Amino acid sequence: MKSKIEQLEKLREESKTGGGEDKIRVQHEKGKLTARERIQLLVDEGSFSEVDMFVKHRSSDFGLEKQKYSGDGVVTGFAKINGRQIALFSQDFTVFGGSLSETNAEKICKIMDMALKLGIPVIGLNDSGGARIQEGVNSLGGYADIFLRNTLASGVVPQISAILGPCAGGAVYSPAITDFVFMVNHTSHMFVTGPNVVKTVTHEEVSFEDLGGAETHATKSGVAHFVFDSEVEILENIRKIVGFLPLNWKDNAPETKFDFSSNLINEKLDSVIPDTPNKPYNMHDVIQLLIDDGDFLEVQPNYAQNIIVGFGRVGGVSVGVVANQPAVLAGVLDINASVKGARFVRFCDAFNIPLLVLEDVPGFLPGTEQEWNGIIRHGAKLLFAFCEATVPKVTVIVRKAYGGAYDVMNSKHIRGDFNYAWPSAEIAVMGPKGAVEIIFKKEISQADDKAEKLNEVLSFYIDKFTNPYIAAERGFIDEVIIPRETRLKIIQAFQLLKTKVDSNPKKKHCNIPL
Ligand code: HXC
Repeated sequence: MKSKIEQLEKLREESKTGGGEDKIRVQHEKGKLTARERIQLLVDEGSFSEVDMFVKHRSSDFGLEKQKYSGDGVVTGFAKINGRQIALFSQDFTVFGGSLSETNAEKICKIMDMALKLGIPVIGLNDSGGARIQEGVNSLGGYADIFLRNTLASGVVPQISAILGPCAGGAVYSPAITDFVFMVNHTSHMFVTGPNVVKTVTHEEVSFEDLGGAETHATKSGVAHFVFDSEVEILENIRKIVGFLPLNWKDNAPETKFDFSSNLINEKLDSVIPDTPNKPYNMHDVIQLLIDDGDFLEVQPNYAQNIIVGFGRVGGVSVGVVANQPAVLAGVLDINASVKGARFVRFCDAFNIPLLVLEDVPGFLPGTEQEWNGIIRHGAKLLFAFCEATVPKVTVIVRKAYGGAYDVMNSKHIRGDFNYAWPSAEIAVMGPKGAVEIIFKKEISQADDKAEKLNEVLSFYIDKFTNPYIAAERGFIDEVIIPRETRLKIIQAFQLLKTKVDSNPKKKHCNIPL
């Protein structure tokens, strides 16, 4: 037995070196960690249990039969994050550039299948040259097998992708189907076709970084949800996001201990927004005062900044925050903000994460650019997402709630559970100036002093509509609250809503306006 154990230990060691010391050195020189170093940083110490470490490819084309590595370019298995089980795969760039072979795909599919049975999240650490070119269609088939599993697992278990190197061609579609994409600055790239193909086809000259670097995907395309400067920060933040999430769609997100006897009244909220209605302010200041310890994990912080989405806790309960940002484009809803918000709302609803909506929105962004690019169908996504969500839903109207955006932002009419408004709330079909120019058009044009008439009707309109009391009279607002009471109110609401049960009509699936 002793010699057999020694042999096994030797084989294990061999597998752990991946493509060998030289390749590991090159990986480090590029500023990248190895597949195993990444796993070590991601999971609880000693919790990783590897599977398929002896799997080798079966290909014999292009002399591949002479190049076989135990594990075949991907490390797979199960581990814990803060004591909670997850499944993971980590592509090993030191073996054929982490390229995806038939057997490599089989390993990934195996842990995904198991994750679905176990109801645990799947975390993929991607660092790969894409389809293993020598294996041709077998490799493409392997990708398709993964895409199918990504799709079937969507909404069943959380799926998180980290891009820690190249991710090109059709390979990008696996991370794209997952719930969250993390990218590291400068060493990760995602694109469907690289700069050379772009140059041939469109004659555009573009660098790797500009075409598909982390910054591009965080600000322009919205593909990346999180970008950090180092792999260490990426892995830390994957641990953090997992802490906000349930293990699967039937599970509830982990709750933290909370001292309900602590002071939940915060006077700072009374002066957090300016007295002048059109003056911008930073909605992050409001979020900080409302969530536990001000600990907010913002999703897509650099994309469509006119809407803020992210995770925090309220009275220990994990919540998804969706908030208009008056500091950017006055918090207006445009195409990108609608899509960003909708995807986040649907994620939260799929995984039983209650929604906290902080509203200050002047409406949808007007203009040909928005109309021609489909603000109607994209805006409808956010509306649809809030309408179909059955998780606990709490809205606080902080200031403006104008037009269709009033309906969209989790209004009472679309199943908001508790809808609060601050006394500063302005709830109306449109802003005062636009409104009076329409409804008092004749009176203004016939007046001797048009400016005086405009001011007169403006103040009439403002008195009548720019307040929360008409909506409160109708019960569209449950309560007008003093800002300082907001944290207390939302903590109480989310505690009360713990037993909420709601559902949608039975169907195969909905047809969200994609
Ligand atoms: C097989 C590959 C490979 C691949 C890299 N390698 N990509 N082997 N199949 N797809 C190997 C290299 O031959 C090399 O082996 C080692 O990995 C490291 O690669 P380098 O080129 O030395 O590294 P680097 O300079 O860092 O460049 C990395 C790279 C480049 C940018 C990823 O290798 C590259 O452009 N690869 C091809 C990318 C690509 O076009 N893939 C197909 C995409 S289409 P040695 O033995 O020399 O160390 C696709 C379709 C998926 O994936 C479709 C799904 C539906």
